[in-house]
Amino acid sequence: MANTNKPILLNAFNMNCVGHINHGLWTHPRDRSTDYRLLPYWTNLARTLERGLFDGLFLADIVGVYDVYQHNVDVTLRESIQLPVNDPTLLVSAMAAVTEHLGFGVTVNLTYEQPYLLARRFSTLDHLTQGRIGWNIVTGYLDSAARAMGLTEQLPHDERYDRADEYLDVLYKLWEGSWEPDAVRRDKAARVFADPAKVHRVQHAGRYYNVDGYHLAEPSPQRTPVLFQAGSSGRGQRFAARHAECVFISPPNRQVGRETVRTLREELVRAGRRPDDVKVFVGAAVVPGATEAQAREKYADYLHYASREAGLAHFAASTGIDYAQYDLDAPVDYAPGNAIESATRTAKQHGWTRRRLLEMFELGGRYPAIVGTAAHVADELQAWVDEAGVDGFNLSRTVVPESYEDFVDLVVPELQNRGLYKTAYAPGSLRQKLFGEGDTLPLRHAGASFRQRAEAIA
Ligand SMILES: Cc1cc2nc3c(=O)[nH]c(=O)nc-3n(C[C@H](O)[C@H](O)[C@H](O)COP(=O)(O)O)c2cc1C
Repeated sequence: MANTNKPILLNAFNMNCVGHINHGLWTHPRDRSTDYRLLPYWTNLARTLERGLFDGLFLADIVGVYDVYQHNVDVTLRESIQLPVNDPTLLVSAMAAVTEHLGFGVTVNLTYEQPYLLARRFSTLDHLTQGRIGWNIVTGYLDSAARAMGLTEQLPHDERYDRADEYLDVLYKLWEGSWEPDAVRRDKAARVFADPAKVHRVQHAGRYYNVDGYHLAEPSPQRTPVLFQAGSSGRGQRFAARHAECVFISPPNRQVGRETVRTLREELVRAGRRPDDVKVFVGAAVVPGATEAQAREKYADYLHYASREAGLAHFAASTGIDYAQYDLDAPVDYAPGNAIESATRTAKQHGWTRRRLLEMFELGGRYPAIVGTAAHVADELQAWVDEAGVDGFNLSRTVVPESYEDFVDLVVPELQNRGLYKTAYAPGSLRQKLFGEGDTLPLRHAGASFRQRAEAIA
């Protein structure tokens, strides 16, 4: 096993809702996730994560409802499977106000809003967080969302990425190209706030979007937010290779993870970037204890409250397959669909039946849990880094807030003792902290080519 000694990156993985990944745990007596509507729930979380030197809080989001399982939303509503779900972007300012370093990776679906408005929202968040904002680029995978937004169905899978490619070009023009770095003078004596010669009108006429306008926000610390992406299909990886700086994967084991990371890094090189220009985060659920027995006891307690069926209903929406129609051991028809291609492909490769999936989802979700002492958890995380080549983890929550507190109090010191985790934050923006190459996109990133020429070659 090669020990690369790379510092492990950590994001907490959460969502502005009750049931996120490990379904059913909201019914645990100590769980507070039904407080997601209240600001202290989020500000306390942000403080805990910063105490643990987490790199970021990754907020998922979904537009649409999970109505594939049993062709209705009954289980979704009863178990609160990402429904109700509130807007994630509105949480960020409050959490930024009580922290100094924590980054925020926020999911926003680009399909249902114009790039002009989304550009301003992220610039605003980048200003208010002083350069700590990231965007998880998603295009959606639910027909229920398309119907709610006045369409009959979604675009086909690959075309969603084509459209997103153009969307990103428009955003780069606004974020990178509209205002030159020295456009803002704030010169009271000369009565010049901004120099008109240095603020440029963006004119984009494309296949999907037409924009004729000036970016509404002045340049923010990072300009383009740190770009996250989570698609692992072939087309998804090509999209990531052009745009992403952080990629989130959820392979079922380290072998599949290694393959996914390898193909992604190859795509990066093909796109003219360096293989390590993307930080790869893998989803993980961790249940640590002071002793092995305590961890096992806690896990057994959690299992009483977890809902395997809710995990299955969630997975049904991800793959577009209604598992309720299959007998427990019947082979499932994994015909190509229009949802998350990589999820369907993995399920097909492993021939997962309904029984197998229910076994896998014992904690209510798809991430295999790491249960044990801090030393055991650290061994497992280290093995993922060494064997699969990932850079860090998106830690899904179990019972909150204790799952975060346990991780910070038990696992973080163990990782630090092994020299695998930072002991203080580095200064600077989220991008600078992650890559150490400055606040803005490096010149070899596609977005940098949209800067005004003098700036791009500076
Ligand atoms: C780990 C992971 C997390 C994701 N999180 C979200 C999310 O929060 N919201 C969303 O709309 N889609 C989410 N997706 C879906 C992806 O953005 C993408 O639409 C999907 O993976 C389809 O891409 P693919 O077929 O290339 O894998 C996620 C996918 C993965 C694998």
